[in-house]
Amino acid sequence: MSATPVLEVETLRLELAGAGDAFAAVEDVSFAIPRGESMGLVGESGCGKSITALAVMGLLRPPLRIAGGRIRLSGHEIQGLGAAELRKLRGKRISMIFQEPMTALNPLSTVGRQIAEMFVLHEGASWTEAAERAVEALRQVRVPSPERRVKDYPHQLSGGMRQRVMIAIALACRPELLVADEPTTALDVTVQAEIIDLMQELAAAQGTAILMISHDLGLVARMCRRVAVMYAGRIVEERSARDVFVDPRHPYTRGLVASLPRLGSRGADGRRRLREIPGVVPSIAAFPPGCRFNPRCADAEERCRSAVPAASSMPGGGLVRCHVHG
Ligand SMILES: Nc1ncnc2c1ncn2[C@@H]1O[C@H](COP(=O)(O)OP(=O)(O)OP(=O)(O)O)[C@@H](O)[C@H]1O
Ligand code: SF4
Ligand SMILES: [Mg+2]
Repeated sequence: MSATPVLEVETLRLELAGAGDAFAAVEDVSFAIPRGESMGLVGESGCGKSITALAVMGLLRPPLRIAGGRIRLSGHEIQGLGAAELRKLRGKRISMIFQEPMTALNPLSTVGRQIAEMFVLHEGASWTEAAERAVEALRQVRVPSPERRVKDYPHQLSGGMRQRVMIAIALACRPELLVADEPTTALDVTVQAEIIDLMQELAAAQGTAILMISHDLGLVARMCRRVAVMYAGRIVEERSARDVFVDPRHPYTRGLVASLPRLGSRGADGRRRLREIPGVVPSIAAFPPGCRFNPRCADAEERCRSAVPAASSMPGGGLVRCHVHG
């Protein structure tokens, strides 16, 4: 097994070009995913999860651009690759599943053809062979009657079945990395768990690493070995899922953990009590100076309002970016 991580993101900076100034939507983001492992990226809406994923996939489009840092896939820089090379990489070595499969699937093509295409494009299979393998791929993601279903168009399938098709397409060529951006948010709760289990089981069986993106810390912590917590474009804590759960350090992470529904936490009215972190995520153009969490942080001190906290290493591995709790 190679020691080179499947994905290395180093001091990534993503800028949003405005009418005048360019704003850093993502700044100083670094993380690595070892081969075959899973990592979760969590944070509130707008913190920069999806654009980080798009940058990794080579899919970032103006007005956003990579303004600094490096992204390496199995040791190879992806910046500087041309559109054709990136296309070759996607699907074969790195795949992505989106929240809404309808936008990623081609409505005019049968699901069988869309799966088969992967084998033809990336593995040089003939269409006849690829069509047979598409049936197998659908069977693997547990779509009932796959021989018939390959002839369906995306709109003929339920949301859960469409997401299974997306998983089949994404994992068809046994990529090294699967990027899953809120893959179950649009689905019913019961279907969500099935899809997550399926994705995890198939990825594990073929040694595919997963970058799992979600606003749900509970979900991410259950399925990933490591968790990176993002706030307003920066990673504020990156540690093992267990450490994040048992001993969260950053006040924002603590807020996320405290807001998770727990057994026995029902209020007098019998409802589950959810604590929320007061305040809202600042917009890119109005990120506060110093620690970006300071307007919402109960522990904020004077220095938090002027100096950006450095990332400090934690004893059990990982990092925390906080003046007080780092
Ligand atoms: N195409 C775009 N043009 C302008 N701004 C954008 C674009 N895409 C994203 N942004 C901005 O970049 C920031 C990060 O967005 P991103 O989509 O990565 O958030 P996210 O963490 O994925 O949120 P969510 O949980 O809602 O999916 C946001 O402020 C968003 O408004
Ligand atoms: S650096 Fe200061 S404001 Fe930021 S999270 Fe830590 S204590 Fe709170
Ligand atoms: Mg998103």
